[in-house]
Amino acid sequence: MKQGVFITFEGIDGSGKSTQAQMLAARLTAEGVPTLITREPGGTVLAEKIRDLLLFAEEDLAPETEVLLYAAARAQHVHKVIRPGLARGAVVICERFTDSSLAYQGFASGNDPELILKMNTFATGGLVPNLTFLLDLKPDQGWCRVQERSGSEGTDRIEAKGLIFQEKVRQGYLQLAAAEAGRFCLLNGSDRTKEEIHQQIWTLFLEKFPFIPVGNEGKGGS
Ligand code: TMP
Repeated sequence: MKQGVFITFEGIDGSGKSTQAQMLAARLTAEGVPTLITREPGGTVLAEKIRDLLLFAEEDLAPETEVLLYAAARAQHVHKVIRPGLARGAVVICERFTDSSLAYQGFASGNDPELILKMNTFATGGLVPNLTFLLDLKPDQGWCRVQERSGSEGTDRIEAKGLIFQEKVRQGYLQLAAAEAGRFCLLNGSDRTKEEIHQQIWTLFLEKFPFIPVGNEGKGGS
């Protein structure tokens, strides 16, 4: 059986990546393409527990603890969900992956990105996405969405770090995208409807993976 393809969505908090990941997954599923959608940190029972530890920690996490917990959750997720999905020939769509650790724990938090990459290469057995959609927008625009979403429950620990932190994350992502232009698709995530962004993602997806069988109807659009 043919190996599947691994697609990731990245962006600052509130960038719209969950919406876009779900729209792509729904469209592929409607086209009859075996598709798996998952997220990080999380995606397995254990990794979701690690997610809770990370996002709602009751004490300050040492930077090393944070990097290692993200990598541990990722290792489990790759082992239990992502690699088996790819082995079955599915399109595996993941919200966030190693690039999140490089942007958040590396560029934005001041840990050495090279070291984070090495640790994640170990955690993932060297798994790299075939294609990464980076939804780019200004942190204040993302922030409004985060606050709408969080409502009275407040924000999680990382979102609570604020706009300056989010701008550092954003700049980190832009550096990663510039360094690997062949893998990243940089998308303007502001001042466009979610349908417009989805249509661009769909067109790019079909260009990149012409061998994935989708109906001709799906190839239309702007
Ligand atoms: P989410 O809200 O997109 O599900 O992500 C949860 C938070 O976790 C988000 O603020 C980004 C953060 N995060 C990291 O800092 N490093 C990572 O490696 C991952 C996967 C997420």
